[in-house]
Amino acid sequence: MGVALAAAARGRGAEVTLVAGPLQVPPPPGVLAVPVVSAGEMRDAVMERAPSCDLVIMAAAVADFRPVERLERKLKKAGRKRLVLELERTPDILAELGRLGGARVLVGFAAETGDPEAAARKKLREKRADLIVANDVTEPGAGFDGETNRVTLFTRTGRRVALPLLTKAATAERILDRAAALMKRPRRS
Ligand code: CTP
Repeated sequence: MGVALAAAARGRGAEVTLVAGPLQVPPPPGVLAVPVVSAGEMRDAVMERAPSCDLVIMAAAVADFRPVERLERKLKKAGRKRLVLELERTPDILAELGRLGGARVLVGFAAETGDPEAAARKKLREKRADLIVANDVTEPGAGFDGETNRVTLFTRTGRRVALPLLTKAATAERILDRAAALMKRPRRS
């Protein structure tokens, strides 16, 4: 979905930077690709570039937790019946962008199961996003993998727009239409 959004924005003439983890499809032509492998790297790459952007779309399914400890060597199993891994929260990039404020429009995604409205509105508020794109990931044809998606858009202005099952390219165009409309409205401080 991130690649489809980058391609659609490039098609509209935007200067696009695609900060992405390992991709299943190549980055679109004309887009500056910045490969990253961890949430921390993604955070640094995004926060460095965000101040000069008009629109930031966080389509990445960022891991919410990471191991507290990172080992340089192989962990031997001898003498262990169990292994407990301690995990800590990763930086929430979208929330940090929200705290940064400014005029840029912020779009986030929400992977939900069932009616996404309450969760999407909570994310709008708590991460100070302008638009949340909610997917029901249990629905066939929606979410990860595949060429199609079915999403509902929730805006900070209180709108709910349920899109039909569309290709990811067509979904990307509809998301950009809504983001472009929000770019014309002054953001609350
Ligand atoms: N996100 C982020 N940094 C993270 C985790 C998530 O920027 N460390 C962004 C994602 O790119 C997405 C949105 O936040 O735009 C998703 O929010 P999240 O709270 O992680 O929602 P879910 O993945 O749906 O998980 P849950 O509601 O179960 O916490």
